[in-house]
Amino acid sequence: MRNLIPSYIRVPLVFFAIAALIEYFVDSGDQPAFIEQPVILLFLLLVLLFLIAIEGIVGTMDNILYQSLDEEGRARYDAQRRAPSKFSLWIQNIYKKLRGGKPIEEEAEIILDHNYDGIKELDNNLPPWWLYGFYATIIFAAVYLARYHIFNAEDQFDEYEIEYAEANRAIEEYKKTAKNLVDVNTVEVLTEAADLNAGKKIFEVNCVACHMADGGGGIGPNLTDEHWILGGGIKNVFRTISEGGRDGKGMVAWKNSLKPIEMAQVASYVLQFQGTTPANPKEAEGDIWVDESEDTSDATETEESSSEDSSNETEENATEIVEETQTVASN
Ligand code: HEC
Repeated sequence: MRNLIPSYIRVPLVFFAIAALIEYFVDSGDQPAFIEQPVILLFLLLVLLFLIAIEGIVGTMDNILYQSLDEEGRARYDAQRRAPSKFSLWIQNIYKKLRGGKPIEEEAEIILDHNYDGIKELDNNLPPWWLYGFYATIIFAAVYLARYHIFNAEDQFDEYEIEYAEANRAIEEYKKTAKNLVDVNTVEVLTEAADLNAGKKIFEVNCVACHMADGGGGIGPNLTDEHWILGGGIKNVFRTISEGGRDGKGMVAWKNSLKPIEMAQVASYVLQFQGTTPANPKEAEGDIWVDESEDTSDATETEESSSEDSSNETEENATEIVEETQTVASN
C-alpha cells in the first residue's frame, strides 16, 4: 500500500479530503469555513503537521527495520524498493496507451518508401486520445444540432428571459414579505385597510399629544389642511416623521422608535386627514404644497395666492410688502 501511492501525493490527498469534509459539514454561509471560524484553520494546520509527522515516523521505523535486517534481507528489501511504484507504473501505462504509436524499435514496419533528401516518413496511427476526442466532438455536434436546430430547445436567450422573469417574480415575492425595506425614496402611499388601521394605532399612541386625534393640531401643526411646513406628499411626510422637524420645534425623529413600515403606515394615515374638518383646527402654517408632477403654471398660481394670504396677515407696512414680493419674484 505504501508503495502504491508516493507520500507527496498521499499527504496532500488526505489533507484536502479532510478540509473538504470540514467545509461540507461546517455551516459557514457564503464564506469558506476556515475564514468564518479561524479555529478551523488552526485545526487544519495541526492535521497537516500530524500527517507529515506520521510519514516521518513510519519512514524512521522503516529505516530501523532496515538496519536490523541481515545482508540477504537488505538485498531483497532494496530490490523491492528500487522497483517503480505500482502507481507510477499505472500512470505510465495509461500514458503509453493514450499516446499510441510504435516503439522506436518497430518503426521499420511503418516507414513509407519515399525519401526526400534523407527525410523519411512514418505511417503512424492517429494517437488514440486525439481520435477519441474527435469522435466525441462529432457526437456532440450531432446532439447539439438535433437539440437546438431541429427540436428547438431553449437557447441562451430563452434561458435568460426565463431566469429574468423568475427573478422578477422572486423580487415581487420578497417585497411582499419585506415591507420593512421602505425608505424615503421607495415609500408609496399605502391604501390597504390593514396598513391604515395600523397607522391609526401608531398615530393614537405616539402623535395625538401634539397633533390631536383628528389631526387638527396643537403643539404640532394642523395636518388636515393643504399647508405644509416641511412639505406634503408621502415622501416628505415620511421624511419628516423619520428625521423629525426643525430643531427645537418638538417633532422628534421617529426612526429610532418606529420601524420603516410603521412610519410608512402612519404617514399614509396622516395623509388621510387631508380635506377633513377637525374640531379645533390650528391655523395654517407653511406653504401650500404642490406635487412636482402637476403643471408648473398651477404651482406658480398657488404660490402667488399663498403669498397674498401671508402678506394680508402682516402689518400694513409698505416696505415689508415690497420686500416680500421681491423675494417671491426672485423665487
Ligand atoms: C412633542 C410633540 C409632537 C409629537 C409627539 C409629534 N409631533 Fe409631529 N410635529 C410636531 C411639531 C412641533 C411639528 C412642526 C415641526 C417644525 O416646524 O419643524 C411637527 C410636524 C409634523 C409633520 C409635518 C407637518 C408640516 O406641516 O410639514 C408631520 C407630518 C408630523 N409632525 C407627523 C407626526 C407623526 C406621524 C407623529 C407621531 C409618530 C408626530 N408627528 C408626533 C410635534 C409633534
